[in-house]
Amino acid sequence: MLEILEKLEARREAARAGGGEKRVAGQHGRGKLTARERLDVLLDPGSFEELDMYVEHNCVDFGMPDQVVPGDGVVTGSGTINGRLVFVFSQDFTVFGGSLSERHAQKICKIMDMAMKVGAPLIGLNDSGGARIQEGVASLAGYAEVFQRNVLASGVIPQLSLIMGPCAGGAVYSPAMTDFIFMVKDSSYMFVTGPDVVKTVTNEVVTQEELGGAVTHTTKSSVADVAFENDIETLLAARDFIDFLPASNREEVPERECTDPWDRAEQSLDTLIPPNANQPYDMHELISKTLDDGDFFEVQPAHAGNIIIGFGRIEGRTVGIVANQPMVLAGVLDINSSKKAARFVRFCDAFDIPIVTFVDVPGFLPGVGQEHNGIIKHGAKLLFAYAEATVPKITVITRKAYGGAYDVMASKHLRGDLNYAWPTAEIAVMGAKGAVEIIFRGRTPEEIAEKTKEYEDRFANPFVAASKGFIDEVIMPHSTRRRIALGLRKLRNKQLENPWKKHDNIPL
Ligand code: HXC
Repeated sequence: MLEILEKLEARREAARAGGGEKRVAGQHGRGKLTARERLDVLLDPGSFEELDMYVEHNCVDFGMPDQVVPGDGVVTGSGTINGRLVFVFSQDFTVFGGSLSERHAQKICKIMDMAMKVGAPLIGLNDSGGARIQEGVASLAGYAEVFQRNVLASGVIPQLSLIMGPCAGGAVYSPAMTDFIFMVKDSSYMFVTGPDVVKTVTNEVVTQEELGGAVTHTTKSSVADVAFENDIETLLAARDFIDFLPASNREEVPERECTDPWDRAEQSLDTLIPPNANQPYDMHELISKTLDDGDFFEVQPAHAGNIIIGFGRIEGRTVGIVANQPMVLAGVLDINSSKKAARFVRFCDAFDIPIVTFVDVPGFLPGVGQEHNGIIKHGAKLLFAYAEATVPKITVITRKAYGGAYDVMASKHLRGDLNYAWPTAEIAVMGAKGAVEIIFRGRTPEEIAEKTKEYEDRFANPFVAASKGFIDEVIMPHSTRRRIALGLRKLRNKQLENPWKKHDNIPL
């Protein structure tokens, strides 16, 4: 019996050794952790339960039968993060470059199926040379099996991808279909075709990092959500992030003890809005002063800074925040900010996370570039997302809410549940000067100034909208947290369903 146990332990050791000491040293030499070391950081100590440790590839070509490593380049299983169950796969770059074989894919699919069945998040740690070249089409089939599951899991369980090494070719499409992507600076990259192919086809010379590194994807392309300095920082951030999310669309948002008083008044908010309407202020201040302990996990902080999105908590329960940022492009809605916020609103709605929207928006961004690149269709994404969302929606207009952007930003008319305005709110079809120049075209500058003042006095306040019931209450800025907390309590049992349909047709 003892001998059998020893054999089992030897097999386990062989699997744990991955691609061997030399390749592990290579991995460390690049500043990267191994697949298993990463899971040690990501999961609660001792919580990881591995599956399929002895799975081997089934490739008979190119001398592969002589090169068998148990586990076949991916470590899969489940564990806990702060006590909550998650399913994980972690590609092992030391085994055939973490490349995806038929069996490697089967391992990933097995835990995806389990995560779906039990309703728990899936976290993928990607570090792979792509399709296992020796296996050809069997590997492509494996990818497609994973893709199919990504799609079926979308909106059912949260899916988070951590890109911690190469992720190239068609392999990028699995992370692309997950809900959020974190990347590690300098050691990870994602592209459909690499620098060499780009050079051949378009004659553009570009480095891997410039083409598809963490900075590129979190600033320019918005393919990824957040970039971190190294493996450890990324994995610890993933732990914090998962804490905000419900386990599945069948579960409520997690609740944690909250010591921050729900009715904490923030007097400093009463002077947040500068006297001059064109002067910016930092919307982050309102967000952090509203949330429990100022704890805000911002998503896509480096892309489309004119809108802020992310998660926080009120009375210990997760909320999604969407806020215009007057510090960047005056908080205008443009193509990138509309797309960024629309996907976030849809995620929150899919997982029953209430949405709190802070509005200070001068409208949609004018310009040939915006029009030719489809601001109509992209702006419609945000409008569509807010309009279809059935989760609790609380909106606070702090200053400007002009034109179509007023409608879009979770207005009463898009089934906003509680629509508040600060006394400084200006809800109008457009800014006073622009409005007067249209209505009184050709008048003298003195007359324009006079009419502008008249227009401002009439419309640069929240009371016209409030008199029509479009604003439920004009609230004191210092009481914003208390109002939102009370609102969320009221809305906890909100029930609202959209008409039956196979699915909608959001303007993609
Ligand atoms: C099999 C692979 C592999 C792959 C790497 N290896 N990629 N084995 N299939 N796709 C192996 C190497 O042979 C090597 O084995 C080990 O992994 C480490 O690779 P190195 O090249 O030494 O590492 P590095 O210099 O860091 O370069 C990493 C890399 C490079 C940039 C990822 O390996 C590379 O370009 N690989 C090929 C990438 C590729 O073309 N993949 C197919 C893309 S098409 P030893 O034994 O020496 O340690 C695709 C289609 C998916 O993925 C479609 C889905 C729909």
